[in-house]
Amino acid sequence: MKAIILAGGSGTRLYPITKVVNKHFLPIYNKPMIYYPLSMVMLLGIKEVLMIVNPSDESFFKSLLGDGKHIGMRIEYKVQEKPNGLAEGLLLGENFLCGDDVFYILGDNIFFGHGLPEVLKAAKDEVESNGGAYVFGYYVNDPERFGIVNFDKKGSVLSIEEKPKKPKTNWAVVGMYFYDKDAVKTAKSIEPSGRGELEITSVNNFYLKRKSLKIKLLGRGLAWFDAGTYDSFLEASEFVATIEKKTGLMIGCIEEIAYNNGWISKAELKGISEKLSKTDYGQYLQKLVKEG
Ligand code: DAU
Repeated sequence: MKAIILAGGSGTRLYPITKVVNKHFLPIYNKPMIYYPLSMVMLLGIKEVLMIVNPSDESFFKSLLGDGKHIGMRIEYKVQEKPNGLAEGLLLGENFLCGDDVFYILGDNIFFGHGLPEVLKAAKDEVESNGGAYVFGYYVNDPERFGIVNFDKKGSVLSIEEKPKKPKTNWAVVGMYFYDKDAVKTAKSIEPSGRGELEITSVNNFYLKRKSLKIKLLGRGLAWFDAGTYDSFLEASEFVATIEKKTGLMIGCIEEIAYNNGWISKAELKGISEKLSKTDYGQYLQKLVKEG
């Protein structure tokens, strides 16, 4: 399985702060937002990732993450000329995927929770073994902002509606999805929505109609932030700061995960930590080097 991270989009909901800086570079407490979805890819053990980026941001992404070698990964970039919708990333990723399954994650989604890597690994195994799509539901207070799951009386999923004006439930589909090799073909078959975007919800509904969509509802032990508004941005930062200060452990530290995965050596981690030694981030890495 490979991964695609959606890091394009217009970011207009965060204007004026995103007028000149793409939101994926903005800090969620002590690291750029893009580190968090990237760390989910790494926790799944996926080494090959394609970043979908805006034309003006490709060089900045390359300055920040390069080709991924320093964290034992292979990172490629593909420019999306216009924010034509989330499903367009599947079309842009066709050559990169080359018929492989995909873990598809939105660049502004932040997840944290005990047992989350195991939940994701189970979904990955399911799609790799049996095909289809696998998505996750999360109970929210503001369902108008999301793709919302509708159930029948028995709890079976009837449909998913994108940003419904009158939501039938509070169960949002979070921004990480697992798809089999049919995802690209599916994305080719869908039409733009009323707002002119190729919706990821249309892809999910397609799998649902074929009875090959699985949904797992995530419990309250897991935290999910879609950092696409001022408030959710701030909440995500406050959350990360609180957890990190309480536990002394970082969330979304890509060098730490690379080291724990065995993708970089202790000497390589030491090299990175020394370059950052004046910061808390660098000192955290130095502690990892010392403690093994
Ligand atoms: O966060 C979960 C929600 O994400 C889902 O519940 C919705 O079904 C899904 O449509 C999506 O809704 P958003 O309105 O939050 O999507 P947004 O436009 O904020 O884009 C999400 C990420 O994808 C963001 O990091 C920017 C990037 N993006 C977006 C578009 C429209 C792209 O890379 N290209 C695009 O064309």
